[in-house]
Amino acid sequence: MDTQTQTDPPVNPNKALWEKGDFTRIAESSMRKSGEALVATLGITPGLDVLDLGCGDGTTAVPEAQLGANVLGVDIAENLVAAGNARAQRFGLDNLRFQQGDATDLKDLADDSFDLVVSIFGAMFAPRPFDVAEEVVRVARPGGRIVMGNWIPNDPTFVAQLLRVSTAYSPPPPEGFVSPMTWGIEENVLERFGAAGIPAENVTCERVMFLFEYEGTPAEYLADFRDYYGPTMNAYAAAAADGREAELHAELSALVDEHNIADGAGTAIEAAYLRVTVAV
Ligand SMILES: C[S@@+](CC[C@H](N)C(=O)[O-])C[C@H]1O[C@@H](n2cnc3c(N)ncnc32)[C@H](O)[C@@H]1O
Repeated sequence: MDTQTQTDPPVNPNKALWEKGDFTRIAESSMRKSGEALVATLGITPGLDVLDLGCGDGTTAVPEAQLGANVLGVDIAENLVAAGNARAQRFGLDNLRFQQGDATDLKDLADDSFDLVVSIFGAMFAPRPFDVAEEVVRVARPGGRIVMGNWIPNDPTFVAQLLRVSTAYSPPPPEGFVSPMTWGIEENVLERFGAAGIPAENVTCERVMFLFEYEGTPAEYLADFRDYYGPTMNAYAAAAADGREAELHAELSALVDEHNIADGAGTAIEAAYLRVTVAV
């Protein structure tokens, strides 16, 4: 009999959160068009070396590669890396590949490797934001750029409100937890890049709108978040454990209805983010 005891590797909660559900469902049904429009503003030129960090299944990485850049997508979630590589193949993009990695420690990537590091609603979700800033600066080439899109805390638009409601139904975070939303505050951004050696005059921050466009009803859109988006799935699970699932669902239903600006069929919801541009 094999008496050897095996120890399971420790669970990384950051990774587990994003491997839960299927973020591809959210991205595919409501983010592709706006992702492509965002990429059109990034000044991508053929041959540019781009790192797309926290890339998911490639909402922005695919259009970056379609514009001729050499793109590496890095994401902590194995399922999204696999989905990204399948999309690259489907689109016939041999200048795009995805690999697993953690924004807090990009150990597989050499210093000064990329002309542009893009992270749209991605690296903001990694723990240890000072490590993230240090890593993105390290892998960017001097003279290159970093562009982050970060949701803004307490903003009246959709994503911040979704988080506000979800948080109210969730257990308090562990001690020392730094909210991802702090990446949406200019002062924090300047402090983090400052610690990574970037002077404040090299950083610009601007509030920009992102539009989620979905073919189905607001109720169907909310159901997708409930069933496939890790953070919302966790909020529903926590609410259910407290016998408050119906209350959470009613509050979120009112939220999607209130924020829906679609004229006629479908759902269209705006959310503001902080667009951070760093000259390295
Ligand atoms: C809201 S999704 C956005 C995905 C993609 N950028 C998009 O716009 O569709 C957040 C992404 O960040 C990734 N992520 C979270 N923590 C990360 C970390 N520590 N390192 C790398 N990726 C991370 C998640 O796996 C997920 O794919």
